[in-house]
Amino acid sequence: MVGEVERTDYAPQGTIMDDLRVLKAMWFGNIKGGSHQDQLESFYNKQAHLYDQYRHRMLHGRKPLMMKMPVQKGCVWVDLGGGTASNVEFFSKSVMTDWFDKVYVVDLTPSLAKVAKKRVADNKWGGKVEIILGDATDPKLEGLPPSGSCDVVSISYAVTMIPNWKDVLQNAYRLLKPGGHICVCDFTLDAKSQWSASKKFWKYLFSTDHIYLNEEHITTLQTMFEEKHLEVSYGTFPYVPRLLKCPYYAFIGMKK
Ligand SMILES: C[S@@+](CC[C@H](N)C(=O)[O-])C[C@H]1O[C@@H](n2cnc3c(N)ncnc32)[C@H](O)[C@@H]1O
Repeated sequence: MVGEVERTDYAPQGTIMDDLRVLKAMWFGNIKGGSHQDQLESFYNKQAHLYDQYRHRMLHGRKPLMMKMPVQKGCVWVDLGGGTASNVEFFSKSVMTDWFDKVYVVDLTPSLAKVAKKRVADNKWGGKVEIILGDATDPKLEGLPPSGSCDVVSISYAVTMIPNWKDVLQNAYRLLKPGGHICVCDFTLDAKSQWSASKKFWKYLFSTDHIYLNEEHITTLQTMFEEKHLEVSYGTFPYVPRLLKCPYYAFIGMKK
């Protein structure tokens, strides 16, 4: 038997006061700055230390994606737009074993990368998990493994936040070896069953936080990779009436 990598159901707990601070930053935070990085930092710097507790209750695609992510012994895994490196928590019991050769987490927001580095230090993941502060769309970003050398590239809830989103998918494609897998989850618009008023509502609401929903994300992934798994579902948000649900997807594809 080949066996299966051990995964953990990651579910950090927060307090109501923490949630209120995050909601304040999300709803009333002023996004400013000329560059994409400055804008991200202005959005995240007041909530970075509280990010995980709140987000795991609204980023519903991450758990199914991390539970299904293909992992083979000696896996080289790159998580693009990986924020606080919380996806690594789903593999907290196996990341230091021979299931993983190396894990790279790339993010452009300094305050989130700082939380990620603290997570690596606290868990003694140093040497195995590298945090790279930089642009996930940049094929020349220093510290990334060579083209065609990675087994898995994941991107959770970052494609909608990257204005030049096709470039991050292109970078993932470049990094993967043939037969390697891309794993993406994010908010989306549901071409099959979502009312047009609902599409307009979520598109507008998210755009106020510089998050851009786009039906083309899934179709582009399907064109670039051989589809292995796709699920589209509807997710709730903490403190928002349960009737208001937004579609999200989890996609796993293989580089041919
Ligand atoms: C909603 S967060 C998701 C973070 C993490 N993947 C998760 O699932 O919790 C979006 C992330 O994309 C990152 N991001 C946006 N544009 C980026 C870029 N060009 N390069 C790297 N990271 C980027 C942000 O800094 C942020 O951490």
